[in-house]
Amino acid sequence: MKKIINTAIVILATILLLPGCTGSDKDDGTITVGFSQIGAESAWRVANTESIRSEAAKRPNIKLIFSDAQQKQENQIKAIRNFIAQGVDVIAFSPVVETGFEAVLREAKDAGIPVILIDRAVDVQDDSLWVTFMGSDFVEEGRRAARWLIEKGYTNVKIVELQGTVGSAPAIDRKKGFEEVIKDHPGMVVIKSQSGNFTRSGGKEIMEAFLKTDGKEINVLFSHNDDMAIGAIQAIEEYGLAPGKDIIIVSIDAVRGAFEAMIEGKLNCTVECSPLLGPQMFDAVEALAKGESIPKKIVTEEGVFPQETAAEAIGSRKY
Ligand code: AHR
Repeated sequence: MKKIINTAIVILATILLLPGCTGSDKDDGTITVGFSQIGAESAWRVANTESIRSEAAKRPNIKLIFSDAQQKQENQIKAIRNFIAQGVDVIAFSPVVETGFEAVLREAKDAGIPVILIDRAVDVQDDSLWVTFMGSDFVEEGRRAARWLIEKGYTNVKIVELQGTVGSAPAIDRKKGFEEVIKDHPGMVVIKSQSGNFTRSGGKEIMEAFLKTDGKEINVLFSHNDDMAIGAIQAIEEYGLAPGKDIIIVSIDAVRGAFEAMIEGKLNCTVECSPLLGPQMFDAVEALAKGESIPKKIVTEEGVFPQETAAEAIGSRKY
């Protein structure tokens, strides 16, 4: 009897794990999307989650399964494996780092589930493991930050750099773009560069360390995101210097907090990186469900907001 019950359980479990038999609700037209988010490390990330959740709620045919990886790659891999086991129709995720996803993406492909990369790219040999990438051109964002400094005449400066999460696409690409532009200006020297993990507390802590060793030398801070810049502003004030005046600050994201800091004269420029990816993510999901082809890359158009534009622009900011 015990053997019969065990066999029945195994058969039932197998049926439930078959794609199309659970989670996907294919019969009633529901499209089930498994989304693995990185975490809630920054105001940008919170706005990105809100954009995705609110857009899903607007579409009655979408069932969103949301999973928060709390900044850990192993949690993302686990979440993707769960989505595969549940037989979702589409997997979307924002990879915390670029490498190490090859095996799990192959499992998704073998299960016939298309994968959408949201915001960040992966570094894999086989590009057929993902269907589309949608997000920003991070290299260009780094270039824009450097170009703004040059336009303003800050070409003879000692720079400290707050990097994002080690191994993440935005940290790698923003650094690359920035360096590409400043290399033609020998007077622009990066004297220190370290990761603050895209968080306010990380930015404050690393800036404190920079100030301790090089406080008198630093002319410019290039921060890979606004949250770290805001943390650094606090560190600079506590050190007794005026952020935005004694130390010129350029950062990336263009979140509301950056506009407030610019209006107070404490931040000099923010380069836009839009987190509002929800609508285009679900447009792509619906197109895939209909069997339509979609572009391999959908790159967001973005701007640059120097301090002098902040007061006028803040009213129309959506995040
Ligand atoms: O991947 C986008 C980056 O991740 C944003 O610039 C940063 O704020 C976020 O945490």
